[in-house]
Amino acid sequence: MFSVINSVGLFGMNAFPVTIEAEVSKGHPQFDISGLPDAGIKESRDRVRSAVYAARIPFPKGRVLINLAPADVKKSGSSFDLAIFIALMQAMQILQIDLSKRIFIGELGLNGGIHSIRGVLTMTMLAKKNGYEEIYVPHDNVREAAAIDGIRVYGVSNVNDLLSHLLELSPLKAAERVQPTIEAQKSLLDFSDVRGQQKARYGMELAAAGGHNILLVGSPGSGKSMLANRLPTILPEMNREEILETTNVYSVAGQLSKENPLVTQRPFRSPHHTVSAAGLVGGGSIPAPGEISLAHNGVLFLDELAEFDRTTLEILRQPLESREVTISRAAGTAVYPCSIMLVAAMNPCPCGYYGSTQKKCTCSPNLVKRYLSKISGPLLDRFDLHVDVDPVAYADLSSTEKTESSEAIRERVENARNRQKERFRGTDIYCNAMMPDHLLREYCRMDAQAQALLKAVFERYGLSARAHSRLQKVALSSADLHGSDVIRREDIAVAVQFRGFDSKYLQ
Ligand SMILES: Nc1ncnc2c1ncn2[C@@H]1O[C@H](COP(=O)(O)OP(=O)(O)O)[C@@H](O)[C@H]1O
Ligand SMILES: [Mg+2]
Ligand SMILES: [Zn+2]
Repeated sequence: MFSVINSVGLFGMNAFPVTIEAEVSKGHPQFDISGLPDAGIKESRDRVRSAVYAARIPFPKGRVLINLAPADVKKSGSSFDLAIFIALMQAMQILQIDLSKRIFIGELGLNGGIHSIRGVLTMTMLAKKNGYEEIYVPHDNVREAAAIDGIRVYGVSNVNDLLSHLLELSPLKAAERVQPTIEAQKSLLDFSDVRGQQKARYGMELAAAGGHNILLVGSPGSGKSMLANRLPTILPEMNREEILETTNVYSVAGQLSKENPLVTQRPFRSPHHTVSAAGLVGGGSIPAPGEISLAHNGVLFLDELAEFDRTTLEILRQPLESREVTISRAAGTAVYPCSIMLVAAMNPCPCGYYGSTQKKCTCSPNLVKRYLSKISGPLLDRFDLHVDVDPVAYADLSSTEKTESSEAIRERVENARNRQKERFRGTDIYCNAMMPDHLLREYCRMDAQAQALLKAVFERYGLSARAHSRLQKVALSSADLHGSDVIRREDIAVAVQFRGFDSKYLQ
């Protein structure tokens, strides 16, 4: 007998349809699978055979041939096991039902258990798009799949349950839909913990308001890490689309759990400075997403920026700009999204006190220069804001007065972002930082005083065209925070103030 079952394969973030054909015929005992890479075939064969025994079904005595199509697409992984098993059951006539509107995905265990796999959310999206009515997924992945509406989702934990269901002996219940609802941020961190630091706090608010990358420079213990860790608490809540996008990355990376089937809080990723290039931007023979993609729609924090390997950092530049990572392999090209805010912190010099008012720097000018040159100009260019973080003043630290909470700041940030949503309606830009330069003229309207100040700054500091456009974008975010439709003189002044790094350290 011959049968065909539908399944889904995955490469990077891309799900693609795969059909499984099974044929059982009389002849010399043989169990062959074609269309999978060599190593995968052997393992899949062993797992399917054990699952058949686990279901107390005698394995066919004759020839068993399985083919995965299309043959010219490289397939990998163990997620076809379940579909192969079901195709075999059809071909053996243990099942004799119409399965043409159903999709099966999952890895088999030796005892007939169905184990979780990666990328179930993406695969379910494809199944729905292609008009399937039901999808059968590993039980541990069911909540992820159930986030997609318009398709019935069944979570199954072993082949016996699945057979009983398909034979209508004891039907399973379809999973209840999981709403990708927005949860209030539940962070233990809050900006009210940060004493004093008016300027740095405002820098963080401004960065959050426009989605700008921000660099914090200051002596050890001045609170740089503390400020960066609190950035997610002042960012707008994720919307449904962002939740699904980010969850997709985690799904493909195999980093979702039964307890946390959806990513509903903006990610905050803080890789150690020893991270490899592949760890940071993604890689591997079957390319996996890196930290920058795991931070998608959230924050990537590089603490102690100068300690990172320089070539590793350089690889960040392109994805930061294009907001996606492309990884090419012989087997195909994977594209991962990485729309992030980059936050970095560093000391100004090896001893940490260059430019400090508190303690004298003991480094030679040459040493300071060498230290800073670890960060290339083009990478520095990716930061719209540079903040000097001075050590917190004793009076501030000992004060019992509560500083403003994250919630209060977030409200202003959300208002500013709503203005941007309105501004960029109909485009795929959602914050000022994403604005391409050719739109500056249209959106960065300035009053006469602002124009005069920008001109004066431009001439005095000999700004590059790049710095010039960055100043305007930050100034626009400042205007948005103040609910102003035009950029005012003080918005330009604020933006200039947050470009201190260039003039202070790099001359
Ligand atoms: N502005 C501040 N308000 C309250 N505590 C602070 C402040 N700045 C620093 N601290 C304290 O100092 C510690 C070290 O700060 P940290 O953020 O690690 O500094 P850095 O990263 O600049 O070296 C923090 O854990 C916090 O307890
Ligand atoms: Mg630190
Ligand atoms: Zn020093």
